[in-house]
Amino acid sequence: MKSISVGLLGLGTVGCGVVTILHNHQDKLMHQVGCPIKVKRVLVQDLHKDRMVKVDSSLLTTNVDDVIEDPEIDVVIEVMGGVEETRQHVLSSLRNKKHVVTANKDLMALYGPELLAVASENGCDLFYEASVAGGIPILRGLVDGLASDRITKMMGIVNGTTNFILTKMSKYGSAYDDVLKEAQELGYAEADPTADVEGLDAARKMAILATLGYSMNIDLQDVRVQGISSVTSEDINYSKRLGYTLKLIGMAHREGEKVEVSVQPTLLPDSHPLAGVNDEYNAVYVYGEAVGETMFYGPGAGSLPTATAIVSDLVGVMKNMRLGVNGRSAVSPQYDKKLKVNAE
Ligand code: NDP
Ligand code: HSE
Repeated sequence: MKSISVGLLGLGTVGCGVVTILHNHQDKLMHQVGCPIKVKRVLVQDLHKDRMVKVDSSLLTTNVDDVIEDPEIDVVIEVMGGVEETRQHVLSSLRNKKHVVTANKDLMALYGPELLAVASENGCDLFYEASVAGGIPILRGLVDGLASDRITKMMGIVNGTTNFILTKMSKYGSAYDDVLKEAQELGYAEADPTADVEGLDAARKMAILATLGYSMNIDLQDVRVQGISSVTSEDINYSKRLGYTLKLIGMAHREGEKVEVSVQPTLLPDSHPLAGVNDEYNAVYVYGEAVGETMFYGPGAGSLPTATAIVSDLVGVMKNMRLGVNGRSAVSPQYDKKLKVNAE
């Protein structure tokens, strides 16, 4: 390969992280994939905004066709967020034979099966490691690392914003609104933080985890969701006095052909491994029948951790290109039609 050309959709918190890693780790990346990686075009809304990274202004565009219709672009990295418009961009990219890497859990939780099918029809990879738990390689952990096991339980702190809020309220008595603002400033929260605080972001991630862990297709409406917007300092202090820690916990539990998927504020004994996961950190506890207990832990949000997952996916795409095996990714499961979610 001479070089690989990448088009970015979005240059916000995560997009800037991607540009930073491509620049700072270029030697390591060159060693991994055997050719330079070039950012060819970047879609943004505002051409004149100040950004966290310096990008040649001639690369910026507000016309998505400059990215997804450019025949020289091999891989599209989608870090703009949103669902309907983004779905069309991803579909067009795949139909134009471009591999796609995305951090978008909203999109993958709603349209994952459709998009993965179109990717496969077009011989393209569609990778989405960054969509769940930021920098933690949990999707590869489930799909590859635990491929031989039968998973029966997944339990996780999978939203950095709410964990940051609960940690600061508990440790320093901070006010909910102040900490939410801080999480927004640090780039952890979604553009509209309602999805974070009402548990929807965590529900989408749990749906993706259950889809991969149990090989099932989940309708998001079947996931029981309660967020933290009504949690008070009194609730937190009272639980502390009783030796418990309040966390927003996502659960995906399989028993026979029934799977329960939920997200809710939960009191954990202080000794529980998830009770010590603080700030924007995430952790996913996975129980497999053969392996027993495992736990994946790390930063769940933020620019560079999330970008690590994206650029690692890009390396995966490029390795597949070298082997000529794109579009045959195991991240598109065969669904087990017998499994039912939250059935009575
Ligand atoms: P930001 O809001 O920081 O960045 C979004 C970027 O996309 C901006 O550069 C914006 O342009 C551009 N953009 C948005 N809508 C459009 C549009 N309609 N047309 C053209 N450009 C558009 O978001 P994040 O970087 O935080 O998040 C991006 C994605 O990554 C989301 O799907 C999010 O859920 C996901 N994610 C985020 C994490 C995080 O920690 N922030 C972690 C894991 C996943 P402009 O800058 O000009 O406004
Ligand atoms: N808003 C999300 C969070 C970003 O706080 O976890 C990472 O997906």
